[in-house]
Amino acid sequence: MSLARKLRREENRTIGLVPTMGALHEGHLSLIHEAKALCDIVVVSIFVNPTQFGPGEDFASYPRDLTADAGTLAEYNVDYVFAPTVEEVYPQGFSTYVTVERLSGELEGASRPGHFRGVTTVVAILLNAVRPNFAFFGQKDAQQSIIIKQMVRDLAFDTEIVVLPIVREESGLAMSSRNAYLDSAQRQAATVLHRALSQARAAYDEGERNATGLLDLVRATIEAQPLARIDYVGINDAVTLESLEKLDDRPVLLSLAVFFGKTRLIDNVVLGQTKKLDAAGAGG
Ligand code: PAJ
Repeated sequence: MSLARKLRREENRTIGLVPTMGALHEGHLSLIHEAKALCDIVVVSIFVNPTQFGPGEDFASYPRDLTADAGTLAEYNVDYVFAPTVEEVYPQGFSTYVTVERLSGELEGASRPGHFRGVTTVVAILLNAVRPNFAFFGQKDAQQSIIIKQMVRDLAFDTEIVVLPIVREESGLAMSSRNAYLDSAQRQAATVLHRALSQARAAYDEGERNATGLLDLVRATIEAQPLARIDYVGINDAVTLESLEKLDDRPVLLSLAVFFGKTRLIDNVVLGQTKKLDAAGAGG
């Protein structure tokens, strides 16, 4: 993987990396758009990373369409598409993993043991392969963004992490490659997630500071949807991910994972912050 060496030759130009697993949608494209605005050279990586999928998860069935993705990226005038094979990223004898302690065990990490170890390992490899000045991630995967920032700080990667708002469909459903798994009834049902989060935000804005009250509100709305099955709903400090009971005015992450059939969707909202982390489109 000599992309870094190749790019270094283009002196004094900033490099932006947008790591993805492909099956590109508007959420990915918003990251690319910002990368292009901020950087001279934009690299998009496409790699369905086996180490971040647990046994029984959807690694084998994860949507893959490199031809369509390459076409989209060509339209966007992306400078480099980096689509390594599994053997290139994890050659025989590979044995070094990166784990961000504690943060990786909360929320998504509790439901998907080992998931973030796979994410931080591959992102570390990608950062070393490309050596970007900036790397772009989505607030859609809020915990992932927090963990990557921590890794970059702890291991002194010379890359600035930029986190961008969630892009939603008109219906409020957060864009996701996994939405392709939903049938039309499930896709309709899944709009309940954004509705539930928006209700909680409205209650928060009206002064509700009891975490249990907000969680009950979200759960009740989702449970009223028969096609939805809650994995977790949590309220955590937006920086430390510490689970919270009583909220003050510090930003908190209200996040959830919910199954529709076999498809597991995640979504979140940050309460109590002025900076917008939810893109316009469906009432934010
Ligand atoms: P993937 O799910 O393909 O997402 C790639 C990037 O797009 C992530 O930073 C994710 O947060 C962002 N993204 C996805 N949906 C979004 C949406 N609706 N709005 C805004 N951003 C969105 O996340 C991964 O891949 C992998 O874990 C990866 C970081 C590439 C490591 O393998």
